[in-house]
Amino acid sequence: MYKVKTLNKIAAIGTKRFDKTRYEVSNTAENPDAILVRSANMLDMDMPHELKAIARAGAGVNNIPVELCSQKGIVVFNTPGANANAVKELAIAALLMSSRKIVAGVQWAAGLSHNIDVAKEVENGKKDFVGPELYGKKLGVFGLGAIGAMVANTATELGMDVYGYDPYITIDNAWMLYRNVKRATDPKTIYEHCDYICLHVPSTPETKGFINTKAFDMMKPGMRVINLSRGDLVNNEDMAAALESGKVASYLTDFPSADVLKMKNVIAIPHLGASTPESEDNCAVMAVDELIDFLENGNIKNSVNFPDVQNPKGGDESICVIHKNVPNVLAQISAAISSESLNIENLSSRSKKDYAYSVCEIAGHCPDSLIEKLTAVEGVIRVNVIRNR
Ligand code: MLT
Repeated sequence: MYKVKTLNKIAAIGTKRFDKTRYEVSNTAENPDAILVRSANMLDMDMPHELKAIARAGAGVNNIPVELCSQKGIVVFNTPGANANAVKELAIAALLMSSRKIVAGVQWAAGLSHNIDVAKEVENGKKDFVGPELYGKKLGVFGLGAIGAMVANTATELGMDVYGYDPYITIDNAWMLYRNVKRATDPKTIYEHCDYICLHVPSTPETKGFINTKAFDMMKPGMRVINLSRGDLVNNEDMAAALESGKVASYLTDFPSADVLKMKNVIAIPHLGASTPESEDNCAVMAVDELIDFLENGNIKNSVNFPDVQNPKGGDESICVIHKNVPNVLAQISAAISSESLNIENLSSRSKKDYAYSVCEIAGHCPDSLIEKLTAVEGVIRVNVIRNR
């Protein structure tokens, strides 16, 4: 029986996919084999001893201590693309809200007294809520992953002139982009040309605070900044100054903080980017499928810390070895298996940066002595054995 712990509410359409005869799923599971999480903060959590995998129902993994998980041989999955349409739709709404003073206008209208001639008051007051159209304006999209690429394409359909910047764009996402999305080869091109920027990059040590005074200095005055990615991509102190000076006309963020709420011309949304029933369902299904495929087949797809590996599942048992990406580990794994007179029917092995994942499908049964030998190999982090037949 596999134990799966849910740290947040995960849509039932996903959790129902766990076969009840093989999985116990609860929010109280002790020492689980796998964790399903949405936004719960796992950064200071002690990792349970049996924990083999964490699946985040969402794209960002900044609530998970990914490097620590790698060191412990815990595979961290996310669900790229599963909530992309939801975030894209909010991004389009955000572009409109940051332009047309919709939020300020709605708040003003809601405060009008019922005793006055409201229609007359509205016609008098609306002059304060004039804002520009998107059509013909320039938009710079940082990050052309599943979400950024959709935002860029849809913005062109609204008549915007779109620039995209992503030094790590995948071939698939590059194929997705409409031909009229212009390629910016550096952020400066976006800052100098664009009227709006949308951030769709993950929060990493490299991207933290990259929207800062240096960036604002290069921007056209009156820039509108949309951040539906993560709050810490923007240096808040620098943003406050840019909003004060008018360099930035409006900052719309899905990540309010005490600092942000004090700033002028801020529109703060309570992290609603992926909050649609459709996206919650898509993320739950993808996250659950990733866990099942890993626990039952040893396959990895959409992990942020280990490589994709798909196994033919040809042997009686799969010996799944998580190890460091260093010389001689594979040779020692193979030698240990041969020393038990077991034949490797299929071998899949791939690396990702400092870590690697090798699956040996063997004919026969993996004895405890072999697990001990494998675990003792220098560079091996964890050994999981899956019975296939
Ligand atoms: C994401 O990282 O994809 C979103 O933050 C998901 C969410 O809202 O939970």
